[in-house]
Amino acid sequence: MDKYVIRGGQPLTGTVDISGAKNAVVAILPATVLANGVCRIENIPNIADVATALEILASLGATVRRIDRHTVEIDSRTIVTQTVPHDLAKKMRASYYFIGALLGRFGKASVPMPGGCYFGVRPIDQHLKGFSCLGAKVMPMKNGMIDAHADQLQGSSVYLDMVSVGATVNIMLAAVCANGTTVIENAAKEPHIVDLANFLNSMGADIRGAGTDVIKIYGVDRLYGTTYSIIPDQIEAGTYMAAAVATGGDVIVRNVIPKHLESITAKLQEMGAEIEEFDEDIRVSASGRLNHCNVKTMPHPGFPTDMQPQIAVLLSLAEGTSIINEGVWENRFRYVDELRRMGADIQVDGKLAVVQGIPQLTAAPVKAMDLRAGAAMVIAALAAKGVTEIEEIQYIERGYEDIVEKLQGLGADIERVTEDAPGLQQAL
Ligand code: EPU
Repeated sequence: MDKYVIRGGQPLTGTVDISGAKNAVVAILPATVLANGVCRIENIPNIADVATALEILASLGATVRRIDRHTVEIDSRTIVTQTVPHDLAKKMRASYYFIGALLGRFGKASVPMPGGCYFGVRPIDQHLKGFSCLGAKVMPMKNGMIDAHADQLQGSSVYLDMVSVGATVNIMLAAVCANGTTVIENAAKEPHIVDLANFLNSMGADIRGAGTDVIKIYGVDRLYGTTYSIIPDQIEAGTYMAAAVATGGDVIVRNVIPKHLESITAKLQEMGAEIEEFDEDIRVSASGRLNHCNVKTMPHPGFPTDMQPQIAVLLSLAEGTSIINEGVWENRFRYVDELRRMGADIQVDGKLAVVQGIPQLTAAPVKAMDLRAGAAMVIAALAAKGVTEIEEIQYIERGYEDIVEKLQGLGADIERVTEDAPGLQQAL
């Protein structure tokens, strides 16, 4: 029953530090299963999905030592089981990376169907096809479990029918210690794919081409422990950039890789924001009414789907009509009804949304429908007139470290309020 209470209308100003990338760390933590030694991972974001991944590692028998808030050491040599528990797997999407990692290390994995944000059907056929191409036997689903095993994985050629981040990661994890060479064609090119490849290479893997659409994985006998620092979160950075623009603020977003933000930067500039790039920082400011524009989400280096709800808030406030074309997910407009409560004028037809800009959003009680939808509600509330209450904030906290404190540091009037459940109040 916790919620955010936000009084909008205050331009954000100051500096915000970006944390390690969620979608990199949720692949790299399962990848530690492959190491014959201790992996020390630095710049880990302190978010719920990391806590879940660490709990899964511990449940397998790995020795997990928290060094500090952003550093952890994992020794996977103590793993005793290849079965991931249901209650943990359902808390996050990336729990399915344990299939690739356990299969790659032990030749067997038993992992429940994962949870995660709902954007319509989220099939995993390409992951399973990849495992089969490497010679694994994937059993028909039983009791919600995916079971896969192989005596010896064999390198192979895998052509992905569509660009899939998850399938690219899972195949890399399974193939890294396979016999011979694996080639993933039509691979995902996201920064977190490159980060995973760099991490695995630092453990002794031989992966080439990550960041292009053909990744070659030359199988090695064993992988070793390593020390590695996670890249900054592209989407967290983009979210604060959008919040700065929505409130007509002036913010330095620190500890970023500006190259990873190019598609976001370009769109914000098209809308009239001022952007200055430095080596590891980006300064974003805006004033006056934004320009309308059209946005199509695509795999990297296109405009990221994980920034689509946040950009929709800006387009809701722009002068004129904008069109959003969701090019990755079947149904990623579930937040639109919530945004409409705040006065936004948006019509959705399948994968298209037509946004008619209005001068001002107004406060309303709203819900976070999923992680990025929740971030969009926070941005809308910061820009809106009045006090907005956002419920279901557990979705937001799966992926944004210290969002309340970071926004307060930029001058936002935001509070996290804990309320007793009504049932509990009645019982007392
Ligand atoms: N797809 C299939 N079959 C598959 C795999 C994917 O049809 O076997 C389809 C999906 O239905 C979708 C498209 O391919 O239409 C792309 O899906 P992808 O596999 O790339 O997505 P994912 O790996 O499940 C990751 C991120 C998402 C992000 C997408 C796209 C993680 C843990 N999740 O999901 O991030 O939206 O890539 O970039 O890395 C978020 O952070 O809020 C988030 C949802």
